Amino acid sequence: MLKTHSCGELNKRHVGAQVTLAGWVDRRRDHGGLIFIDLRDREGIVQVVFNPETSKLCHAIASEMHNEYVVRVSGEVALRPPGTENPTLPTGDVEVVAQNTDILNPSKTPPFYINEDAEVEESLRLKYRYLDLRRARMQENLLLRHRVIKYIRDFLDAKAFIEIETPILIKSTPEGARDYLVPSRLHPGEFYALPQSPQQLKQLLMVAGTEKYFQIAKCFRDEDTRADRQPEFTQLDLEMSFVEEEDILNLMETLFTSMIEAIKPDLRLVKPFPRLSYTEAMERYGTDKPDLRFGLEIRDLSDIAVQSSFSIFRSVIANGGKVKGICAPGCAAYTRGQLEELNKMAQALGAEGLVTISLGTSAGSLNDLTIEMVRSVAAKFLTLDQIKQMAERLGANMGDLLLIIAGEPEVVSMVLAELRQEMGRRLKLATPNLTAFAFIVDFPLLKRNEETGQWESEHHPFTAPRDEDMSLLDTSPEKVRGKHYDMICNGYEIGGGSLRIHTSELQRRVFRLLGYSDAEIDVQFGHMLEAFEYGAPPHGGIALGLDRIVMLLAGEETIREVIAFPKNQSAVDLTFNAPSPVSEAQLAELHLRLREE
Ligand code: AMO
Repeated sequence: MLKTHSCGELNKRHVGAQVTLAGWVDRRRDHGGLIFIDLRDREGIVQVVFNPETSKLCHAIASEMHNEYVVRVSGEVALRPPGTENPTLPTGDVEVVAQNTDILNPSKTPPFYINEDAEVEESLRLKYRYLDLRRARMQENLLLRHRVIKYIRDFLDAKAFIEIETPILIKSTPEGARDYLVPSRLHPGEFYALPQSPQQLKQLLMVAGTEKYFQIAKCFRDEDTRADRQPEFTQLDLEMSFVEEEDILNLMETLFTSMIEAIKPDLRLVKPFPRLSYTEAMERYGTDKPDLRFGLEIRDLSDIAVQSSFSIFRSVIANGGKVKGICAPGCAAYTRGQLEELNKMAQALGAEGLVTISLGTSAGSLNDLTIEMVRSVAAKFLTLDQIKQMAERLGANMGDLLLIIAGEPEVVSMVLAELRQEMGRRLKLATPNLTAFAFIVDFPLLKRNEETGQWESEHHPFTAPRDEDMSLLDTSPEKVRGKHYDMICNGYEIGGGSLRIHTSELQRRVFRLLGYSDAEIDVQFGHMLEAFEYGAPPHGGIALGLDRIVMLLAGEETIREVIAFPKNQSAVDLTFNAPSPVSEAQLAELHLRLREE
């Protein structure tokens, strides 16, 4: 090694030791005759002092050093002179007195500061990702990701899981997104698909008798990029034979509680992880991935609203719609501008409008509320008693603001879920340091595609229907619940899984329900149906979004911060400038011609 120690490990115990360090110049300061270099490597920073009286040559070389130069220094570890210690630095009691040094490689001035956590435009960060990753925050994120993956591997290994790699060039598995296709040179006009997940492969591994499989698996989905979505992402993918839903949920709960205790002990958890049925989650929070770090639950006000003389409420309800609301605590004094902003947000999400009821500006008991204190466009159509009933239903007090949406049930839920999230953020309602895990269970097996009228899988076509709902499969498919569960945390879906269908007959029945012809089933899924005829064990599993998990543990807002080389918002890799055009010769070899657009 070019070094004997790392910069960050030096402390009082090393005083008097001869060390050789190598790393990057974090900062150079010239003080009178002395030159100070903060030398940085992966483990941290230590101060090196170049004294012309110790070595004239070293001092001369140090005067040539600039930020991000790669240098090597040999010298003796010494206590810093009293009063010059730096308590903010783990190595702050000591310094290295340089006796020998050389510049291993100079550096151009970087396009942004490496030595501070300043805001830098993301496209610049991604173009120079190798410099961005040199920054302390990103180094921490990379290390955290490594620790999480290592913890998962050790944990599952101890529970007799084996990690098995599955191919990247496969036939597409339907996970609801568009496939990335890879043209075949050897088979003109034919394509591989990159796996949206290893779903079918892990099920085949169960048929193969593996019993407990896992993989840190790369998945590819050609869908629009978002803060928590990348075209290429990583799953902890897992499958087990001879299990029930409880076994998988318990395994996940144990994995996450022990991992957080080991890796992020300052984070708080609620144990056992709450379980909500899909219906309950939709009713209370308007979404199947609610942020449970705060309350602010949605309540149905339709029974009160229908009694009022407010024609909007009455006609919505007469047409099968709902009137629901949430209470924004302490927001009764919101200005016209603030209310209009919320109204615009609701409209942008598809609501006709937002009805706000401001319950007086002073604190106090609802009993003291008079109609004069109420501020709302709907006030003249509501009695004081109706307003009080709504306020009570929403758990509101004087000084609070009611946010009410009337419309189609799905729109009402979706808009209120967003408003709830927005108010939670604005009012900082989330309990700090809480990671609020929960399981959502009892999903419907199917959902209707509004455009085509076809049934689609809520999860994917391999999810088993609940035994007790099996008789509804032909008569009322919408009522059939799947053996499907999601894991959520702080408003994100971090995982999803199910117990699977393991007989050929039921699998074919579900495919037919999804609108596939028998011929299509045989071409696309014949291999699965056939495999199920050779002694497929009952099995089930789950896949967790590893990027999302690390993002949450790192306290980051996007998964791009915890992926070494992510794509940007428009799915471009700015470091390599991919995607990029290819040569005519490459296209010809693949039997491809580009269409004129
Ligand atoms: P699902 O499609 O729900 O299930 O995916 C599992 C988890 O993967 C994460 N995820 C993503 N993360 C980042 N970018 C994306 N584009 C992206 N898409 C999904 C989410 C999600 O909860 N084969 C099934 C699992 C199973 O049934 O076992 C599957 O892939 O956190």
